[in-house]
Amino acid sequence: MHRCDSAGFAIRLDDLRYKIGGRAVLDGITLHSSARRIGVVGRNGSGKSTLARLLAGLLAPTSGRIRIAGHDVFRDRRAALATVGILFQNPDHQIIFPRVGEEIAFGLRQQGLDKAQAAAGVQAVLHSFGKPHWQDAPVSVLSQGQKHLVCMMAVLAMRPQLLILDEPYAGLDIPTRRQLARHLHRIPARLLHISHDPADLAQSDQLYWLERGRIIAQGPPETLLPAFTAEMVRLGDLDDIADLPG
Ligand SMILES: Nc1ncnc2c1ncn2[C@@H]1O[C@H](COP(=O)(O)OP(=O)(O)O)[C@@H](O)[C@H]1O
Ligand SMILES: [Mg+2]
Repeated sequence: MHRCDSAGFAIRLDDLRYKIGGRAVLDGITLHSSARRIGVVGRNGSGKSTLARLLAGLLAPTSGRIRIAGHDVFRDRRAALATVGILFQNPDHQIIFPRVGEEIAFGLRQQGLDKAQAAAGVQAVLHSFGKPHWQDAPVSVLSQGQKHLVCMMAVLAMRPQLLILDEPYAGLDIPTRRQLARHLHRIPARLLHISHDPADLAQSDQLYWLERGRIIAQGPPETLLPAFTAEMVRLGDLDDIADLPG
């Protein structure tokens, strides 16, 4: 648990850019934070998922720099696997094995644990979530919320210092959201939660507003979320839904 309390843990992004086909999806992001719960709010297409993938080291920046706890997460995959975990919106894009235990073991094996160590890690995380009987359960019989929980257990088994949440609650009903949120509240990892929904981010210690690949505002949720909501309502009153990206 104390691992993530290590002094000096920080996310440092410097003039981070990511282009696809010449178009800037992220257009010069500078963000330095050691807050425990960071929120990033932004509407559809603002670049949130691209940022999440860059932070997890799954994409290479076009230019600029990312350091998570001092690690270059794209270049140093080993450090990335030990440092950053990510939960995506759709668990079907994350889960690759037919059984729960195999799915959880996979990440641990990637981290270099041998079979016996990985099996022990699987048992430990299933126990800590009160789900030891899920070990051999086929993923195909699980509900969407249960699949989310499998992803969460798989990622947390790897003991990341930072957990990135890319709208993991979108599309889930309220009881499922509340249960997943309860699990997240008791984990030791730092959280970077990305969402278009202000309700997900009210508990953030530090909040950033992403718009067209740039951070256009930052501040505490009490001031930033009302401003974001007001702007979303204003945009909703316009008719720009047909505009194509330029
Ligand atoms: N692989 C890709 N190919 C082409 N365009 C992409 C790709 N990934 C993202 N984009 C574009 O980049 C922009 C930001 O996407 P994304 O990061 O998914 O935003 P968000 O998660 O905020 O909705 C969108 O306009 C999207 O269409
Ligand atoms: Mg997204």
